[in-house]
Amino acid sequence: MTDKYAVLGNPIGHSKSPMIHAEFAKQTKQDISYEAILAPLDGFSDTVKRLIAEGYKGVNVTVPFKFEAFDMANDINASAVVPEASNTLVFYEGSAAAYNTDGIGLVTDIQKNLARPLQGKRVLMIGAGGAAQGVAIEIAKANPATFVVVNRSVEKVHDMQKKLEGAKEQDIVAITASSFNGLDGQVFDVVINATSAGLTDSVLPIPDSIFTSNILAYDMMYGRETPFMLQARSAGAQVADGLGMLVEQAAEAFSIWRGIKPDTKPVIATIRAL
Ligand code: ATR
Repeated sequence: MTDKYAVLGNPIGHSKSPMIHAEFAKQTKQDISYEAILAPLDGFSDTVKRLIAEGYKGVNVTVPFKFEAFDMANDINASAVVPEASNTLVFYEGSAAAYNTDGIGLVTDIQKNLARPLQGKRVLMIGAGGAAQGVAIEIAKANPATFVVVNRSVEKVHDMQKKLEGAKEQDIVAITASSFNGLDGQVFDVVINATSAGLTDSVLPIPDSIFTSNILAYDMMYGRETPFMLQARSAGAQVADGLGMLVEQAAEAFSIWRGIKPDTKPVIATIRAL
């Protein structure tokens, strides 16, 4: 019997997840269906309960339901603890287990696809909102030499620091909090934009000196060239958008559900060519 999966969001029409999972299923010969479902803004948990009752095996969760997915889960995987948000639910015996695969998606894209190992490197992450919280622990676990997080409101970085300390993972690198002014004179190997500033084409107040030809400048957004990417590109930096992360987080979810890891390279190329 075909196992049923879906992605839940609102809006959801733009989602590339059904196409990505269809490619994974074809490649690995898994008998699954995967559809996009628009959940009402006030009806996320009812929708999840209905899908569980209908025998679905799991769902991906996107904006704005990742926090609700975490709140309603019966089991929380370590990957979802710091963000307190989940993009992947696994259904079993009428219950839901919450995972967050965004961090692994980002780190795999940077380390494997872009060939930039983070171990011993100086990493700067810009932003401390939901997207940044989703990936912070995986960056810290990759063991960079330093992990600086900058945000307009530094209190949010302090919150993230506390959550990371509270996660009690062994030997992970602590976050250093910074203001934008505090970045002057600092040097990094990898700079990750986890803010939503690109949505409004806002220019981030990052000193020009950060952008050099040696860095990888990674914007977690995809589908548009953000001012951050333009600034980095004009300095000769290696520049990447978040499309690889999108496919890698999906691959991790697929692997949690199906126990088999798909080859992401051809899928990234297919989605990129659309
Ligand atoms: P998301 O889920 O996309 O992370 P969010 O939780 O609202 O959305 O977080 C948005 C992030 O982008 C925050 O880090 C925000 O900074 P503040 O916490 O200081 O508001 C950051 N951000 C958005 N627009 C920005 C801009 N124009 N300049 C700098 N940071 C910006």
